[in-house]
Amino acid sequence: MRQAGRYLPEYRAIRARAESFLDLCFNATLATEVTLQPIRRFGFDAAILFSDILVVPHALGQRVSFEAGEGPQLEALSEPSALKKLHAEIDHEMLESVYETIERVKAGVPPTTALLGFCGAPWTVATYMIAGHGTADQAPARLFAYRHPDAFGILIDRLVEASASYLVKQFAAGVDAVQIFDTWAGVLPAGEFRKWCIEPTARIVAAVRHQVPGARIIGFPRGAGTELLRYVEAVPVDAIGLDWMTELGFASHEIQPRRTIQGNLDPLALRVGGEALDRGVDAILQAFAGGPFIFNLGHGILPDTPIAHVERLIARVRGHV
Ligand code: CP3
Repeated sequence: MRQAGRYLPEYRAIRARAESFLDLCFNATLATEVTLQPIRRFGFDAAILFSDILVVPHALGQRVSFEAGEGPQLEALSEPSALKKLHAEIDHEMLESVYETIERVKAGVPPTTALLGFCGAPWTVATYMIAGHGTADQAPARLFAYRHPDAFGILIDRLVEASASYLVKQFAAGVDAVQIFDTWAGVLPAGEFRKWCIEPTARIVAAVRHQVPGARIIGFPRGAGTELLRYVEAVPVDAIGLDWMTELGFASHEIQPRRTIQGNLDPLALRVGGEALDRGVDAILQAFAGGPFIFNLGHGILPDTPIAHVERLIARVRGHV
């Protein structure tokens, strides 16, 4: 996760050439280059498309920008009436360069390297659309959903359709699998989690597979805790991206018999390196040795992560050290 990015000097060099982060996402030449950088340097088994989950609100007509050091800034949808400003459907023309990036990356990686596409889950994307920026507990979106459940449902429906259509286009352009990031799933009470995370994600999976039979999909409901069991029952994804908080015994006994596991090293263990890194990697490899498993971090790599620690991680996972 976040295998491209600020921890790599070659990324920072390309980033300096683009005006803004979104310009980088929408420049097929530079986005292709940035997607390929970690593959060239580390030889990972899969590449992840360089883009962002917030290109979807952008293609629905909401203004999105990334201010240096502040993260994303959007024109907040603070009242139900603001939803009228959004397009009824996703504007694929605004995303044409993303599809072009996928085609170019696919042509640029060895045939044995998988390419992952992605989108944000409706709940997580809605939290940014409503607040207009990142918050620690997503209180603005939670308040909006309690105060205006019908309007919030309309927004979620719009995002379900937009995301499904976006993922179908990614498959058509050449991705081998997609991941649906629900980074803020963990802030919801169980009932709300089912309504705003599980149900919309299940609808996206059904809509994508209707058009792309057998589409391979990974779900990442970060912070779901024990509600992960409900997610697995109700959302027919092929694999579960586990966050780093998830207990390994629970995941190997309750989740791995039902789904491929992807995860789940604490990005801070990678940041720190040494004993903490080795112990973390070994515990994960041991816990998931008995079933289908993809090694990954439990969330995005941190910008101040030393490259030597990433090299150590790869060598350890591959059994070389
Ligand atoms: O993993 C990859 O290499 C692919 C690229 C990718 C990015 N964002 C690039 C990015 C992916 C898969 C995402 C997903 C994303 N974006 C999520 C879901 C996954 C997660 O990490 O939780 C979310 C919530 C976002 C929204 C977003 N984009 C935020 C909150 C921020 C600011 C965070 C920060 O670290 O500054 C971004 C910016 C962003 N997206 C960066 C990158 C490499 C940093 C931008 C920069 O280079 O300045």
